[in-house]
Amino acid sequence: MNLKDAYINYFKKHGHVQIPSAPLIPENDPSVLFNTAGMQPLIPYLMGKEHPEGKRLVDYQKCVRLTDLDSIGDKTHHTFFEMLGNWSLGDYFKKESIQYSYEFLTETLNIPVEKLAVTVFAGNDDIPRDEVSADVWRSLGISEDRIAYLGVEDNFWIAGESGPCGGDTEIFYFRSTDEVPAEFDPKDERWVEIWNNVFMEFNKDENGKITELPSKNVDTGMGLERVVAVLEGVDDNYKTSIWKEIIETIEMVSKKTYVGNELSMRIIADHIRTSVFIAADRALVKPSNTDQGYILRRLIRRAIRHGKKLEIDMNSDWLAIIAKEVIKKYENYYSEIKDNKEIVLDVLRNESLKFNRTLEKGLREFAKMLKHLDGNIIDKDNAFKLYDTYGFPIELTEEMATEHNMSVDVEGFYDKFRAHQEKSRTASAGKFKGGLAGDGETETKYHTATHLLNAALKIVVGPDVHQRGSNITPERMRFDFSCDHKLTDEEKHEVEKLVNDWIKADIPVTMETMAKDEAVKSGAEAMFIEKYADIVNVYSIGDVSKEICGGPHVNSTSELGVFRIKKEEASSAGVRRIKAVLE
Ligand code: SER
Repeated sequence: MNLKDAYINYFKKHGHVQIPSAPLIPENDPSVLFNTAGMQPLIPYLMGKEHPEGKRLVDYQKCVRLTDLDSIGDKTHHTFFEMLGNWSLGDYFKKESIQYSYEFLTETLNIPVEKLAVTVFAGNDDIPRDEVSADVWRSLGISEDRIAYLGVEDNFWIAGESGPCGGDTEIFYFRSTDEVPAEFDPKDERWVEIWNNVFMEFNKDENGKITELPSKNVDTGMGLERVVAVLEGVDDNYKTSIWKEIIETIEMVSKKTYVGNELSMRIIADHIRTSVFIAADRALVKPSNTDQGYILRRLIRRAIRHGKKLEIDMNSDWLAIIAKEVIKKYENYYSEIKDNKEIVLDVLRNESLKFNRTLEKGLREFAKMLKHLDGNIIDKDNAFKLYDTYGFPIELTEEMATEHNMSVDVEGFYDKFRAHQEKSRTASAGKFKGGLAGDGETETKYHTATHLLNAALKIVVGPDVHQRGSNITPERMRFDFSCDHKLTDEEKHEVEKLVNDWIKADIPVTMETMAKDEAVKSGAEAMFIEKYADIVNVYSIGDVSKEICGGPHVNSTSELGVFRIKKEEASSAGVRRIKAVLE
């Protein structure tokens, strides 16, 4: 029996109800692109809401983590992975949780106890050291030398910056043929973490304040790929039974062996598997230039570039052949993979048709650039040309540059990219008299709301607030601005209230065309002043706001509905990000 089935069966036997994997693309949370942990869809229940399936749950959850995108190609990282998890929602706590884990590992999986070690939360100023967990481990036969006490950095778990959280105990396995040392050293890399049991008894709010949750919960997580590798005794995850047929298929289509071509083959295997899951997920994402669609595009195009490196025939149906192998592997566990098989294959075929039209020429252009470059930086114009004319995502250009010990002026690229976006928006707005060209009605409302938010922040936070970026989808707006601190609740409320007062006041939005100098002199705000043409459009919202902008905008603020800030977080050093919606 495989690990996934064994895990589910064990916990079902102990009174847990199996719940289905939640979608990869969260339903009601535009603040994250993908589900990143088993507990994420369960947050409302960890916070106290009653779960329809009861207090003991078990599942395997699809997850995508993009933080490791650059590491893909090594032996252990994946963009997509499955997390096995079991939960107690106010039912059992530390003792039973640890006993279950121990029994599953030593009896179901037959792991000798000599190969196990654990870490336990050492406590901090607010929370005492977790002696309860340490006692349970000792009572089960884990020797004192195999228990390490670690602090908040290692043994306190929270998804992101706020939400349900708590101390945890992590289980390690000695993955080596060396003799197992008597004493556990968590820094010794031969010990690998295989399971994390989090005792979620607190909630951390957006200001960092910790309070107790209504119930004491358990949230455990086991990364399937890693544990399978441990159990199968290989140090390369891609050599496990999970990847076997997929890698063999890549060997077949490329007529090359895995040995000697590991990097490209791992990238292709990982990225196609992730693309299959994204394209089959309920939202049916298509490759595009924003959000999840852009990730999907990046993954497919990077896989294609590595396919090209392996000299795979680009005119063959190779992507679909590999994808079918992935589908075969997972369709009995995830019905959407079976149901949306044809959609997935179409996505891969269409995207590769598109990219194949420019790939060859783009690669030649890239080689030419390398020859004519002064120094070792691909400048912004060349990076933008690869993106705009040849469809190379900037990250792909960066990867190619790294292979030649070069780097890319990424910041310059983004400046150019944004200016280009503004320009095309201006062009289409002009053509349709500032109407709804290119942007739907909802996006238009968000454009206007962006100006109001910018104005409100200048009043509430200070005149030094400047726009650093913005991104609008039909579902939400995102606004980046210069600011050196996390906004307080009060500041957020005030900003919301100001914007909503302006909306209620039914203020007309007007547009004037004027010379850029004149616009600047009149006090109009602009994000990238040097990027605009000499003649610009200036949008005014009564006395509230005046900005150089391509539009489009609504005619009056009353069209906007109710403005709500959903999230305020750090974007980069000195830049904060607000996500907001119009309801
Ligand atoms: N939430 C914890 C983790 O992701 C345990 O599931 O590690």
